[in-house]
Amino acid sequence: MKEWTLEERYRVLESPEDIRDLHERIKGSVYRQKYHVQPVTGLSSDPNGFTCHDGVWHLFYQWCPWGAVHGLKYWYHVTSKDLISWENAGVGLYPDRDYDNKGCHSGSAISTDETLYFFYTGNHRDENWVRTPYTCAAYLGEDGRPVKLPEPLFGPRDDHSEHQRDPKVFYNEEKGRYYIFIGAQTLDKKGCVLVYESEELLSGWTYAGQLKVPGFEDFGGMWECPCIERISGKDVLLFSPQYTKLPGRAESTNHNVYLIGTMDYDTLTFTPDGDYQHLDFGFDFYAAQLASNVGDPDKAVIIAWIGLPDNHYPTEPEEWEGSMTLPRELRIRDGVLYQTPLPAMKELRDELICADELPVFGEMELNFDGNDAAFALFAREDGTGGLTFSYDAAQQICTIDRSGMDKRFNEKVGETLTMPLRTPLRKLQIFIDRSSVEIFANDGEATFTTHLYPSERERWFWTAGKIDAKVWTLKASVEDSFVV
Ligand code: FRU
Repeated sequence: MKEWTLEERYRVLESPEDIRDLHERIKGSVYRQKYHVQPVTGLSSDPNGFTCHDGVWHLFYQWCPWGAVHGLKYWYHVTSKDLISWENAGVGLYPDRDYDNKGCHSGSAISTDETLYFFYTGNHRDENWVRTPYTCAAYLGEDGRPVKLPEPLFGPRDDHSEHQRDPKVFYNEEKGRYYIFIGAQTLDKKGCVLVYESEELLSGWTYAGQLKVPGFEDFGGMWECPCIERISGKDVLLFSPQYTKLPGRAESTNHNVYLIGTMDYDTLTFTPDGDYQHLDFGFDFYAAQLASNVGDPDKAVIIAWIGLPDNHYPTEPEEWEGSMTLPRELRIRDGVLYQTPLPAMKELRDELICADELPVFGEMELNFDGNDAAFALFAREDGTGGLTFSYDAAQQICTIDRSGMDKRFNEKVGETLTMPLRTPLRKLQIFIDRSSVEIFANDGEATFTTHLYPSERERWFWTAGKIDAKVWTLKASVEDSFVV
């Protein structure tokens, strides 16, 4: 694995020409995605600024141009009319100010009727590498590129650690004001959320206090990328707690969870109805962001990074890694959160094919009768290896194991995970792209996302017993164009 110097990681992109050849090489990779947003070069991590404005969906990702490494971060911009087909729109935010000299870190967007605004963390470091995170703003200019404000909106608080970032901005109708939630860490290293409020978007921000979440005062060492949304009259709080192991999650110390409950803006208390839940049970899912301006009180739209901090993936030698999940719709029924692919994904279906040999990118629908079941995706021709899936009906648990693949990675974090179900297994919808697999169980009751890098001989769908399966090839919906 290449060792990156600090200088290489924080090199400034002077011109698109600096990475044109790199993109040309990367384009040839057999693992480039065909319908998931992926980095034009280098690394993509958190989704940022996800919103619908003036009939266009805007999405940005944390981007390090040079390779599969976390260094100087930009926001890279993609747009879509339907959340299915995506176009590269070029760099959104450059770390070109003193207040963001070492990166434009994660943040969100909000659309008023006239203007689309962005809120992000300016990651400033001084000559001794001491960090000061600023909350900064920008708006979409007439040329379609964000324009930054000359000064940050506010700096960090000294009653919390330096980990204060990832502003999620939103408007609360009842209070008639805007709020920003910031992911943070207390001085004794507990994860939390800081709340700011203002009547104006670009000025007047004051600190309201640390969000109280009864029962979650000691739950991970930092809460990255917090998000809140009201869906069907319930409040849903999402965040990515770090520096802690959680039951059933092998050795991973990075997670993405949610709480359903009630948010009280007078007391700044989020009262959960029950315990935390995992947003996704897979190996590679993090920093999920809810889109703003979805325009339906019973639905939210979410997208996440297929990848985890501190992990390494087999495309690293090709100088790129990471991609976004498919956007998903979230709904709450009887107090339970359901995540489903967009209905329009059906329009990507191309050909219905024989289920034995898997397409390099396609969709599967498997139906079950609630009894024990087992199968493997990307097995070898003799039925060995692959990503194995087994369902234990007595316990209502699915077990997914990627250790049988030729290309193994992040073995130390764990290669086997479980996905508990609320009801017996009836249905799996599986989206296969060239380096990822997303599984939706029982119409969105649970999901499982993983990177996967099948070799040439790993092509077969193997089942123990008969499984009712339909397989489609899909049409490509992202272009691998060089726009910087
Ligand atoms: C989450 C995160 C954020 C930060 C960004 C930097 O993956 O660590 O907290 O803003 O990535 O790229």
